[in-house]
Amino acid sequence: MEQNKKTIFSGMQPTGAITLGNYLGALKNWTTLQEEYNCLYCIVDMHAITVRQNPAELRKNARNLLIQYIAAGLDPTKNIIYYQSQVSGHAELGWILNCFTYMGELNRMTQFKDKSKKHADNINAGLYTYPALMAADILLFNTDLVPVGHDQKQHLELTRDIAMRFNTIYGDTFTIPDPYIGKVGAKIMDLQEPTNKMSKSAEDKNATILLTDKPDEILKKFKRAVTDNFANIKYDVENQPGISNLISIYSAITNKTYDEIENEFAGKGYGDFKVEVAQAVIETLKPIQQKYDELQKDKAYIDNIIKENTEKANYKAQKILRKVQKKIGFPPIIR
Ligand code: TYM
Repeated sequence: MEQNKKTIFSGMQPTGAITLGNYLGALKNWTTLQEEYNCLYCIVDMHAITVRQNPAELRKNARNLLIQYIAAGLDPTKNIIYYQSQVSGHAELGWILNCFTYMGELNRMTQFKDKSKKHADNINAGLYTYPALMAADILLFNTDLVPVGHDQKQHLELTRDIAMRFNTIYGDTFTIPDPYIGKVGAKIMDLQEPTNKMSKSAEDKNATILLTDKPDEILKKFKRAVTDNFANIKYDVENQPGISNLISIYSAITNKTYDEIENEFAGKGYGDFKVEVAQAVIETLKPIQQKYDELQKDKAYIDNIIKENTEKANYKAQKILRKVQKKIGFPPIIR
């Protein structure tokens, strides 16, 4: 890790195979930022347990997610890739920041409101204070930039508020992080209900493309994607949300602008366009899936990455945690 580079932190929940939304909104951007920044990419298993998880599945999903990070192009010698639960500083700073987060702020979090509706039988305190833990994840490393999809914007704003509040009381302690939200791909929508964001938890399997989907599944899902009757390939979220979503997926993958795509497909049918989008996605995911399958076979290599990166993350985390503990008046550790 180089001294003069700025720091990036981001993470994903290990709650099943990740979606094309996770990839285009976050992971793809992570791979392009890794040269310019010192990056930490976390598997946020502590966040995942705010919803009931099957232990064996959680363990498997966490490891698969870590492998997916690497398969998608994150170099584990340049980026610190690790499990949140193995760096205790997250929990420790999380508690401290809980004491600097107001209930009024947490009450406003739209993700909490959505998840409470979805999991009405398990609205636990962790689900409620989740944003304070997320703030701790970020602030624990004096992060400058946080690459995320659009749905995390509100949590990031709260993180900034918490950091500024702390700094006002105790003097300059935390770096105030900026969000990095891509111009395209930051909000990929559900293929069946294109006014909802694409999500792992969608009940209709046709609604979501997973990074592990085989080419024929991807093609089938795109062919079934909901569109409209305008017969016009135009980016118009208000009136044509389905086709606009396909345009943004295609744009995020090919780097073509919306105008270029509209011109390229002017006069063509939705059927043709859907096949083009599917092919572009299939081609992008193919090398990732191949690498993923290869890495799955190399247990010792992955274990070693986990071991080395966890040590690095713990070392960095402890430094900032000690500083915070001192500022708020916890007694020094006597060695
Ligand atoms: P999670 O696991 O829900 O999502 C991981 C990342 O994927 C992005 N994303 C999307 N982007 C575009 N379109 C979509 N349909 C879509 N769905 C998800 C998310 O914005 C996110 O960037 N709370 C976070 C995890 C987290 C975190 C952090 C992130 C915990 N601590 C600290 C950054 C920094 C979450 O649940 O992401």
